[in-house]
This record gives sequence, C-alpha cells and structure tokens, in this order.
Amino acid sequence: MRLIDGKKTSEEIKSEIAARVAEIKVEGGKIPHLAAVLVGSDGASQTYVGAKVKSCEQVGFQSTLVRLEESVSEEELLKVVEEINENPEIDGLIVQLPLPKHISVEKVTNKIKAEKDVDGFTPTNVGRMTLGWPSYVAATPYGIVELLKRYKVETSGKHCVVIGRSHIVGSPMSILMARNEYPGNCTVTLTHSRTQNLSEITKTADILIVAIGKPEFVTADMVKEGATIIDVGIHRIEDASKKSGFRLIGDVKFDEVAAKASAITPVPGGVGPMTIASLLYNTLLAAEGKVY
Ligand code: GUN
Repeated sequence: MRLIDGKKTSEEIKSEIAARVAEIKVEGGKIPHLAAVLVGSDGASQTYVGAKVKSCEQVGFQSTLVRLEESVSEEELLKVVEEINENPEIDGLIVQLPLPKHISVEKVTNKIKAEKDVDGFTPTNVGRMTLGWPSYVAATPYGIVELLKRYKVETSGKHCVVIGRSHIVGSPMSILMARNEYPGNCTVTLTHSRTQNLSEITKTADILIVAIGKPEFVTADMVKEGATIIDVGIHRIEDASKKSGFRLIGDVKFDEVAAKASAITPVPGGVGPMTIASLLYNTLLAAEGKVY
C-alpha cells in the first residue's frame, strides 16, 4: 500500500511556487497578491483564512485580509468585492464561505471578476472548466488531480466513483475525472446520499473519491482490493488522550480500508494541505496572466 502524502506534496508545490516568486523578483515582475474577504467570526473560517494568509507569506506573496462584521449588508460586501475587482495591485480574490444567511452567495460569487476568481467558484470558471477550456479549478478538486498526477495513479479506462455531489468538490471532481486528458479518461459514477445500493457501486471502483462529509463512512467491505482511495473528509473527534483534546478523522475508516487499498490519502495530511497549495498556484497563474 502506498500512502499518498499530501503534506509532503503540498510542501513541494509551495517550494516550486516560492522559487518562481524569487525569479519574478529578479525579473522585476508582478509579485502575486491574494485578497481574502472574511465575514463574521466563524471559528473554522478564521482558521482556514489564517492558514491561507500565512501560506502566502511562506511563498513570498503579498496578501490582504479584509474582515467584515457579521452584520455587514449584502450591498456593502458587493462594494468591497467590486473595489478589489478594480484594484490592479490585487491578482486573486476569495470570499470565504459560508456567508451569513442574509447575504446571497450567488450574488457575491457572481460579482467576483472571473480573472481574479482563484477559488474557481464563478459560473464563468465552472463553465470553462466543464468545457475543458483554460480556467481556474476549485482548490480541492485541483489538489486531488495534482496528487493523482504526482503519484502517477493510472486513470485511463478505470472506473472512478465519487461519493458526494457538492459544487465545491464532488461535481467538479466527476467532470475532471471524465475529461479527455490525464488524469482523467475514467468511466465516472457520481453517487450521493440518495444513491441506492451504494456499496455495490463502490465495490467496483478502481479510484474512489469520498467527499460525503460523514465520519468513517466508507468501510473495508465497500472497497475493491487494490483500489486507490482519496478521502476529502475532515472531522474533529473528541479524544481525551490527546493533548489538544481532539483528533482528526476522514470520511474513510482508514486502518481497515488501507489494508485493502493500493494507495490511500491519510487524514490529516492528505487532501487538506493540497487545497492551500492549489489556491496559491491559482494566484500565481493569475499574477502571470496565464489563464485569461
Ligand atoms: N469554505 C470552505 N472551503 C472553501 C474554499 O475553498 N474557498 C472559500 N472561499 N470558502 C470555502
């Protein structure tokens, strides 16, 4: 069994990005600049945005964090997005989700200029990704594609089963794995919470991508011998034996599934660290005008 090490791979990607930033400095080019908008004080969102800003520093990017009160009006938020859209100093813009209930995610997402949409969430980028045109691809699916590439997982003609149909992970993943390029050319089955006879389907998967958001949902009896397993889930479980008081687990029951798999991503240290590396990579592309 091969452990697909997302932590190590993400560090490699960050080093590659830092090396490119050093070259840009020598060339006198534009230093990539990411702006993150955070509304309210949700703990998980603060942690994620904090990690994104810190990673920008690590690779030599500039970053701007715009913090807005939970009570900010939709109009005001749209104005902030508009200002960043028009600011030539800023290359990439992300608005951390979820947003408070009184704000329309659709309106805010739609306001982000496609050229700065390094999250790949706007209809323009989702549409272009679906067509196989140059686009920003959402960080998590992009990170998974990169892991499959760097670990040289064979995909052509294989059966890829995706569990979960979210706009951020499951749906784009199913599209990318069916594309006519490596890593792709799979026969894809997109499953979700209403799928009947799920384990009959997952048992035929050569590549199983799990993004259902349920702790240890996938067990050994649901998996084919020799499959490649990608676990997107992340859950905090209380554990008094740990100094932190908790441990992290995924959507896959790791030990028993790992015993059957040919390759598997751990939690933590698998898909998670790759998402930030992908966001940084998209921001580098934006600064260099490589997508639009
Ligand atoms: N919330 C959870 N994941 C993400 C992400 O990838 N980008 C943004 N902006 N918000 C998120």
